[in-house]
Amino acid sequence: MDPISQFNAERAADIAAMASDKELHQKSIDWMLHADKYKYTYNYTWMGRPIIKFPSDIVATQQIVWDVKPDLIIETGIAHGGSLILSASLLEMIGGDGKVLGIDIDIREHNRKEIESHPMIKRISMIEGSSTAPEVIEQVQAIASKAKRVMVFLDSLHSHEHVFNELQLYAPLVTVGSYLVLPDTFIEYFPKGYYSHNRPWDVGNNPMTAMRAFLENNDDFEIDKDLCNKLMITEAFDGYLRRVK
Ligand SMILES: C[S@@+](CC[C@H](N)C(=O)[O-])C[C@H]1O[C@@H](n2cnc3c(N)ncnc32)[C@H](O)[C@@H]1O
Repeated sequence: MDPISQFNAERAADIAAMASDKELHQKSIDWMLHADKYKYTYNYTWMGRPIIKFPSDIVATQQIVWDVKPDLIIETGIAHGGSLILSASLLEMIGGDGKVLGIDIDIREHNRKEIESHPMIKRISMIEGSSTAPEVIEQVQAIASKAKRVMVFLDSLHSHEHVFNELQLYAPLVTVGSYLVLPDTFIEYFPKGYYSHNRPWDVGNNPMTAMRAFLENNDDFEIDKDLCNKLMITEAFDGYLRRVK
């Protein structure tokens, strides 16, 4: 076997073994829960803007963008803008004129100002409104209809109902071979009641449950197990869906 194939084969074997290691999975959840005491995912920036992600998910995003080379990345949930700027910088890295479209129900003035004065704004446009509102979807569809390779992140309101509705509206925009990413599926593995005191999501009501319901009646998408199985510490357990047809 040539050295590259040998490296790839060894890596695939390690990932497969890791995926069946239930103890490591539980340790990862325990670590995430412990680190959440310090709002771990809020502690990073990307090109100067706060990004609410685990580093492993940032690397996973880089892998997808490099492989798929999307010319449009749609993201629901902007917050401070770090993830929009990450996507825009990855499009800059691969070259071409790829663009990022962000949607948020509430783009805070201070965040808008920082995003609009960032060098990556040349690739970014934003819509303020609910990600499932008909007038928003109309604009998103018009923009997506001009793109060849579309990738989508659904990172807004993490309740089952909202994510399920987003899946119906945004999944058809993803092009074959590209990805639909569902952050915050980890809620399903956190203790029941951990979020429900101040958030409309919980165990049994989150992006993981919405994704399972969606996949029951949709075989256009598959969980990219090769990618998901290696992340371990991730906001998107089984949340990287590849459009296969
Ligand atoms: C988890 S944050 C997004 C984090 C960002 N993608 C990142 O990685 O840095 C969630 C965002 O979703 C927005 N949001 C909540 N409900 C929404 C809705 N119905 N439509 C669009 N955005 C919504 C919130 O205002 C908030 O900014």
